[in-house]
Amino acid sequence: MNPPDQFEGTFNVTFRHRVLFERDAFGTGTALANVLSSANEAPVTTLAVVDDGLVQAAPDVPRRIEDWFGRHTTIATLATEPIVLPGSERAKQGMRPVVDPVIEAIRQAGLCRHSCVLGIGGGALLDAVGLAASLAHRGVGLIRIPTTTLAQGDAGIGVKNGVNIPNVTGGKNLMGTFAVPSGVINDPTLLTTLDDTHWRGGLAEAIKVALVKDHVLLDTIEASADALVRRDLDSMEHVLKTCAHLHLRHITDGGDPFESKLARPLDFGHWVAHELEARSDWTVPHGEAVAMGMSVDLQVGKAMGLTDADTADRVDSLLRQLGFLRTPCGSVTTSELLEGLEHFRQHLGGRLTICMIQSPGSPIDVHAVDMDITASALDAVLAGR
Ligand SMILES: NC(=O)c1ccc[n+]([C@@H]2O[C@H](COP(=O)([O-])OP(=O)(O)OC[C@H]3O[C@@H](n4cnc5c(N)ncnc54)[C@H](O)[C@@H]3O)[C@@H](O)[C@H]2O)c1
Ligand SMILES: [Zn+2]
Repeated sequence: MNPPDQFEGTFNVTFRHRVLFERDAFGTGTALANVLSSANEAPVTTLAVVDDGLVQAAPDVPRRIEDWFGRHTTIATLATEPIVLPGSERAKQGMRPVVDPVIEAIRQAGLCRHSCVLGIGGGALLDAVGLAASLAHRGVGLIRIPTTTLAQGDAGIGVKNGVNIPNVTGGKNLMGTFAVPSGVINDPTLLTTLDDTHWRGGLAEAIKVALVKDHVLLDTIEASADALVRRDLDSMEHVLKTCAHLHLRHITDGGDPFESKLARPLDFGHWVAHELEARSDWTVPHGEAVAMGMSVDLQVGKAMGLTDADTADRVDSLLRQLGFLRTPCGSVTTSELLEGLEHFRQHLGGRLTICMIQSPGSPIDVHAVDMDITASALDAVLAGR
């Protein structure tokens, strides 16, 4: 029988997406052994890639990783000693800083599709390592061990990765893939060496998730604001766990894991944030930029009658209490930031869709904003008002 001129089939693939919170993951913990042993046939050849900022703050981490593998030889073996690569947004300036060396290390160490890359670091390093792992052999297994608050609550939970096109406006995350990690292991004890800026960074994303999905989380962050500022690890762990859980449920149950729809609620505040990070030459960290972006969108929503005034003012004072909205933005201007709207539209594709907040837990999509109102809100946030 001759095949017809047109034919098609459909297939479904089931992904498992796991997040495990565990203290002392490289010591007494069992999460890494569980994830590695369920990923592939033992012993899994593993390449560990560590964030240089983490190593600077906690120099014993590479040795602790080696010791862990030394104690678990039946489960996994290290292909080479842990490689230390640039963390921070430096990791994402094109392919050279992290993606190329990780792919080269995968080649040299003879890793295959049944091997595993273990990324240990902040959201930026994880984004770049994840891209490398998804490209090599069309996808080597990936386990993430996020080491910033932002990465434990948000960046490490997402099923995407990517790097920027350097020196190009709108180049943030322009090169990336969707890839579901074999597991995400969040060890809160790794957060103690963070500076104050990156300690609070994850709280900006947690407030975002609360505004989009869960008013109770906003109450919790408010109630524990003093403890969070005092760097109480239990309070931070509770907030990050709730945030990560809501984020994971959004991916697994939200009906759009690979973001093909226009609505992107978890990008609330991000059109400003991405433009601000790039225009400040990455001197404004992601968490600070998200806090400013949310402040802008809440003030715009309030002035346009979309956001209730109580919510906008309440979040503004919470952000200030936590230490946000004070970062200098250098010479970035309002008109530069306004271009972020168009870059955001291009990034999403199709029609401009911005998530706004009516009240905590009640997001709405809008397709246009009042430019005068937006410019005033940007002026205010740039001036630190
Ligand atoms: N893939 C996603 O779904 C997703 C979601 C949100 C954000 N992101 C990305 O995440 C990045 C921001 O991540 P981030 O906030 O973790 O910042 P980051 O990765 O830039 O890390 C912040 C700084 O902390 C250092 N560091 C990491 N761990 C440390 C530790 N335990 N102690 C001391 N220093 C440590 C890093 O070297 C860096 O200098 C952005 O590039 C953003 O676009 C990705
Ligand atoms: Zn973000």
